Amino acid sequence: MSCYPPFFLYVLVHFVLIFLSSFSFTFLRTKSPYTHKSDLSLSPPLSTPFVTINTNLHVHCSKQFHSVREREREREREKLRFVVMASGGGSVEEVSNKQVILKDYVSGFPKESDMYLNASGTIKLKVPEGSNAILVKNLYLSCDPYMRPRMKQPIPGNETYIEPFKPGSPIVGNGVAKVLDSGHPDFKKGDLIWGMTGWEEYSLITATQTLYKIHHTDVPLSYYTGLLGMPGMTAYAGFYEICSPKKGERVFISAASGAVGQLVGQFAKLLGCYVIGSAGSKEKASLLIMRVDLLKNKFGFNEAFNYKEEPDLHAALKRYFPEGIDIYFENVGGKMLDAVLLNMRAHGRIAVCGMISQYNLEHPEGVHNLMTVVWKRVRIEGFMVSEYHHLFPKFLEFVLPYIKEGKITYVEDVAEGLESAPAALIGLFTGRNVGKQVVVVARE
Ligand SMILES: *[C@@H]1O[C@H](CO)[C@@H](O)[C@H](O)[C@H]1NC(C)=O
Ligand SMILES: *[C@@H]1O[C@H](CO)[C@@H](O)[C@H](O)[C@H]1NC(C)=O
Repeated sequence: MSCYPPFFLYVLVHFVLIFLSSFSFTFLRTKSPYTHKSDLSLSPPLSTPFVTINTNLHVHCSKQFHSVREREREREREKLRFVVMASGGGSVEEVSNKQVILKDYVSGFPKESDMYLNASGTIKLKVPEGSNAILVKNLYLSCDPYMRPRMKQPIPGNETYIEPFKPGSPIVGNGVAKVLDSGHPDFKKGDLIWGMTGWEEYSLITATQTLYKIHHTDVPLSYYTGLLGMPGMTAYAGFYEICSPKKGERVFISAASGAVGQLVGQFAKLLGCYVIGSAGSKEKASLLIMRVDLLKNKFGFNEAFNYKEEPDLHAALKRYFPEGIDIYFENVGGKMLDAVLLNMRAHGRIAVCGMISQYNLEHPEGVHNLMTVVWKRVRIEGFMVSEYHHLFPKFLEFVLPYIKEGKITYVEDVAEGLESAPAALIGLFTGRNVGKQVVVVARE
């Protein structure tokens, strides 16, 4: 017991921390409530015209911001409370670790209440002796449509392509994190990584083979949940490896304002293709106008349209592609796929990346126009980004110069705090986000 510092030291440190955090709070608040700005202060200013849009989130953003600082203070206090002396003489910090837990398997449309925040857990900030895991502090979490199938109860004989989440355990997804302790020779304290992590403040990651080390930090770190991470790689592999694109071809992209779609469209434009995207939203019409405007005016698509305003999708596609579609980048499925099939050109290619319209249905919709595949000699190919890990260095080499030259625009929708993660994820399926949906857990 005598090795604990005197009580007054705790009190002193406590007050210094409160003083410092209220100081930084005031400082940040006078700048901007927008969450992304502080990323820029970490890295040199970019010439990239990247945009961060907080849609309906921004209404309560400044209020939330206050509670974010409150939470950070609370966390610091917790840390002090949980200093535990390890037997070897060194101290192992045990801190509180909030987690977003999946309550139970989800059927039908997912709801925020299918997840809950458990604030009572703790974690030791040290990798267990002899383990080759790493212990990370999570910074940014990614919300992606593929996470919906992971919430489904697995049916024996009908397994989905991806391992389901475990009810009662934290949600798992892509994220950016900082290594606090490592038992693995490839990672050391202070490294920044992206890859599969937990929806919690700190994670002990054993599946280190799914992680990438971040070497380029002169771009906002949150980009590694999107443009420079899994969605970016998906767009790159899907477009260049599956679509076999050629200059001048006519490209159609559904869910084109999403994380993957916005990039496929820009890659296609850089190659000299003619690009049209569709977007839709179950929520506000203003969001839709914003999306369509983004596609045309920010991402440089030739045209963009709101599929909700088109009672006849087949006729709409005929109007936008009078000569037909060479390449369809499929994110939606259902009625859109059926309409696209009727509008494909001979030897057209369809890269199937996802089918968000089907994820919340108990019974998948049928596809009726498959016969076109025969007489138009269309190639339909599904793909999963996990088979293209080896292309990651090549992808970075390709994309980083475009980002630095401002030739690729990237839009993020940033939700603040782990508490806002369930709503942010559900927002993907109601179409609330504009651009890549990111959750900030901590900034450093
Ligand atoms: C919250 O986490 C704590 C610590 O891991 C655990 O004991 C408790 O059962 C959890 N509560 C719920 C409701 O999941
Ligand atoms: C598998 O899924 C299909 C399509 O939803 C369904 O018709 C079939 O009954 C399912 N099989 C099992 C074993 O649940």
